[in-house]
Amino acid sequence: MKVIILGGTGMIGRRLARNLAAAGYETIVLSRSPKTRRVNFPSGVKLRKWDGVTTKGWGQLVDGAEAIINLAGENLAGEKFIPKRWTAKRKQYLVESRILPGKAIFQAIQAAASRPSVLIQSSAIGYYGTSLEQVFTEASPPGHDFLARLCVDWEASTKDIEDLGIRRAIIRTASVLDPSGGALNRLIFPFRVFVGGRLGSGEQWFPWIHPGDEVRAIRFLLENTEARGPFNLCSPNPIRNAMFARIAGRILRRPSVFPVPAFLLKAALGEVASVALEGQRAIPKRLENLGFTFNYPDFEPALKDVLNENA
Ligand SMILES: NC(=O)c1ccc[n+]([C@@H]2O[C@H](COP(=O)([O-])OP(=O)(O)OC[C@H]3O[C@@H](n4cnc5c(N)ncnc54)[C@H](OP(=O)(O)O)[C@@H]3O)[C@@H](O)[C@H]2O)c1
Repeated sequence: MKVIILGGTGMIGRRLARNLAAAGYETIVLSRSPKTRRVNFPSGVKLRKWDGVTTKGWGQLVDGAEAIINLAGENLAGEKFIPKRWTAKRKQYLVESRILPGKAIFQAIQAAASRPSVLIQSSAIGYYGTSLEQVFTEASPPGHDFLARLCVDWEASTKDIEDLGIRRAIIRTASVLDPSGGALNRLIFPFRVFVGGRLGSGEQWFPWIHPGDEVRAIRFLLENTEARGPFNLCSPNPIRNAMFARIAGRILRRPSVFPVPAFLLKAALGEVASVALEGQRAIPKRLENLGFTFNYPDFEPALKDVLNENA
């Protein structure tokens, strides 16, 4: 079975592509720069170039493919260690880099003689906005902040595919605990250098998922023909930031008593600091209702595992 992953060179896509290839899927990863990315894919994964915007050079691959997985999009915090500020221009790019691939996917599917049966569409748990008290399930309405609006537009970019009779599962992903980069690296670094602690009040929720469970959940949704609509891809046990700090300190055997005041983070990073200072208590209700079980439902074993993996 042929599966195409847009944005498959990223943190999630790399793991997913390897998993699918090992399971016997003919896996095609689209990348804007396959040569410079130099991801170490096994021979079962084919890397193809695209422009990140149109169907040029890859649209014909959709003909006869069984599934498309859309993970493409400019990294929300940037790929460097210090997060990129959300200027008006950058915000526009963050949105466009998600909506244009969505539109290209629709065009490619529409043009295909033999259409795929399923699309897995990426989104984020930021869809719900943030709250200290509310519990968010897939039935909760979207929030009103920048990330929430981005997620709404992102999800909408492939909505018309449903009118073609194609099953669409939306993955509202929480922070993936991948120490090779991204949010976890930034959050853990202060602990490694002995200055870790809570961020702001420490009360904010931190929804998270083990990278292995993220890949298992995507594969589950890909293969379960009942799975359609939005799914929260997060562990059933989100934690508050203060708990994150205590557990990270314990695992790394470092102090966790150096809080970072919210105003300092906001002054240094601007609006993007809200990703660390605010959060949401989301639960994977629809995923669990469909029978998915997590290998890592609890944070401490999950963090221990991923930090060992990277040791
Ligand atoms: N990791 C998380 O914790 C998390 C949480 C919630 C949601 N998500 C979302 O899930 C998706 C995959 O996550 P990830 O962590 O694997 O992301 P990632 O590591 O940033 O990878 C995303 C991929 O998208 C491609 N891309 C980047 N900018 C693009 C652009 N302007 N146009 C088209 N493609 C572009 C890149 O591939 P090439 O450079 O090879 O083209 C990149 O490898 C992302 O959209 C992300 O926002 C991730």
